[in-house]
Amino acid sequence: MNPRKHADDQGEESSAQMDVLCTSHASQAESQTAGIIAQALRARHDLVLGLATGRTMKRVYAHLVRLHQQDGLDFSRCRTFNLDEYIGLPSGHPGSYRRYMDEHLFRHINIQAGRSHVPDGMAQDVARECQRYETLIQEAGGIGLQLLGLGMTGHIGFNEPGSPLDSRTHEVQLTELTRHENAGPFGGEASAVPARAITMGLGTILEARRCLLLVTGVGKASVLARVVEGPVSPMIPGSVLQRHSDCQVVADRAASRDLGMGSLDRPGNS
Ligand code: GLP
Repeated sequence: MNPRKHADDQGEESSAQMDVLCTSHASQAESQTAGIIAQALRARHDLVLGLATGRTMKRVYAHLVRLHQQDGLDFSRCRTFNLDEYIGLPSGHPGSYRRYMDEHLFRHINIQAGRSHVPDGMAQDVARECQRYETLIQEAGGIGLQLLGLGMTGHIGFNEPGSPLDSRTHEVQLTELTRHENAGPFGGEASAVPARAITMGLGTILEARRCLLLVTGVGKASVLARVVEGPVSPMIPGSVLQRHSDCQVVADRAASRDLGMGSLDRPGNS
């Protein structure tokens, strides 16, 4: 694959076979991402929006909340589907993704009760919950725009290395690295992070009409280069996005450090 980088009109870099927009700073990447979501929502008020969690997304959601409160961005007709949830955490637990979404987005916007979906990590029958979640997405008409972050293992959602490229919503075993990376809301204890989770599959994600991958920070530079430029491989699950016909990557300069051609366009290098 041949990523293309380009500078946008604010002097930021923007790269596309997978289109990679490179910004100088993480804050610009976050606001650009929120802007893309807001634009999609304004164009289609009944958008079905796929959502992600993690540290990277917190400021994206802060932007969306501000756009709702100050500019009237309307979420009343949209439906949302989160990528994943830990198994065995009640929704009030500080580590649960339902709680994360309530705190960072849902309680601050006018999304209607019952229209925001997160897999139920407390379901008795996990396989059935996975099937129910897939059916809900289908019944909503499929995902229009899927927001994605990137894990240090190359995961999207919780699809860890080795995940089948055509998988549907399923139960996964998390890697030790992912549990370590995600330990923050669990008192910093990796061992307190659930070892299992429910995630949309790579096949589910690929069916979204548009994907939007946000990656910031130098710590993810090497894995982002493998996602964008490496071979498509279950060992780097995010690389499957190379097969998507409409996937926008937004990355700050630090995260795009290892992308080929980057040095040609970097602001300040000219
Ligand atoms: C979790 C989520 C992923 C997310 C990743 C990155 O593992 N399941 O969907 O992309 O975190 O998180 P962070 O932004 O905190 O690095």
